[in-house]
Amino acid sequence: MTGKLRLGINIDHVATVRNARGSSYPDPLRAALIAEKAGADGITAHLREDRRHISDTDIEALMGGLTLPLNLEMAATAEMQEIALRHRPHAVCLVPEKREERTTEGGLDVAREENRLAHFIAPLAAAGCRVSIFIAADAPQIESAKRIGAAVVELHTGAYCDFHAEGRFEERDAELARLREMATFAAGLGLEVHAGHGLTYDTVSPIAALPEVAELNIGHFLIGEAIFRGLDPAIREMRRLMDAARA
Ligand code: PXP
Repeated sequence: MTGKLRLGINIDHVATVRNARGSSYPDPLRAALIAEKAGADGITAHLREDRRHISDTDIEALMGGLTLPLNLEMAATAEMQEIALRHRPHAVCLVPEKREERTTEGGLDVAREENRLAHFIAPLAAAGCRVSIFIAADAPQIESAKRIGAAVVELHTGAYCDFHAEGRFEERDAELARLREMATFAAGLGLEVHAGHGLTYDTVSPIAALPEVAELNIGHFLIGEAIFRGLDPAIREMRRLMDAARA
């Protein structure tokens, strides 16, 4: 599959800036609408258990105000399942969540919780949500995701990006090789493959070049870059790099 690579913009950190002062701005929906004009194909928002950035009200506003599909990232808890079933976003991406972490640290251990997760995602899929599982590039996890009935796996690019940032290029390249191999493996099982976490202008191209990858979800770097060049140009530059890598 070598169709156009989709770009999902994660707007969580617009809400982080807003919440730092308890104000009503900057507004994540406004950012999402700018992202759409700049060429985004979808919007991603992570409603965390502690509501540290995106709030319940944000999800309502996004569902009501967006024309782009919303990808709701959430932990596999009863509370989040109820929220997802109420809003029926285009996609639900299940992520592991720990209160004390700064960001999503690893992939979901689907292999350990296959039975529970199979029951958890069945009503979401029945409600029409495309269920995605955020996992490390690891064959047993991918096989488990397939067995529980997920439509999509999102491969965690955090380790690849961290190795790059730390100048550990051999480890970065080994991780990239693993991502490449596992993207092929997952697509071979009939799963749609997404990727994301920690991607920047410096790291996006080799991931965008993976032919099986259908979508990238990118947030933190772009919201930071928007401080310097504005959100629209920041996203357009990412889109340009992705398209160039794909070509
Ligand atoms: N994909 C998933 C599943 C995530 O949890 C996150 C972070 O919320 C991202 C992509 C985006 O990562 P970043 O904000 O580092 O670009």
